[in-house]
Amino acid sequence: MATRNVVKKEDPILRKQSRVVTKFDERLWELLDDMVETMYADEGVGLAAVQVASLKRAVVIDLQDGDGVTELINPVITKEEGIQYEIEGCLSIPGEYYETIRPEKITVEYDDRYGEHHVEEVEGFRAVCYCHEIDHTNGILFLDRLNPEPHDREELEERARIRRAEKNNERG
Ligand code: NI
Repeated sequence: MATRNVVKKEDPILRKQSRVVTKFDERLWELLDDMVETMYADEGVGLAAVQVASLKRAVVIDLQDGDGVTELINPVITKEEGIQYEIEGCLSIPGEYYETIRPEKITVEYDDRYGEHHVEEVEGFRAVCYCHEIDHTNGILFLDRLNPEPHDREELEERARIRRAEKNNERG
């Protein structure tokens, strides 16, 4: 495993559509392992392959909530419900954090690293992260999802803190 350079927002590759993964081989696994290492090194909660300059529809996520790493290959959102507001950042856009609008709950279909198909329903902060990373596979940045009328920032951050604390308590 090795860390890879994370491309920054001026890089036009971030606006490209990533390609569907058809080979679930060691080359893909090496990419995924490197993405996880890079995500941890940069203290992120998610990373898409395009951010390490690989145009594969592949995403890694670790919300640091005890659930470990989630790998999404060829992820597609098939259903969205409700809306939520969250303050987002991005490893490709360091130092910038803004409020976005995201669906509260999504259904996502994806393959795992062995090519096995999965359907999953997620909500809350996990849904925000899935949306953010899946957007990357389509050349979309969180800057394209900003709430034009942002809430009071402190209130929103406090709400996010409480929600994460509750989540941790649930896991006990
Ligand atoms: Ni990002």
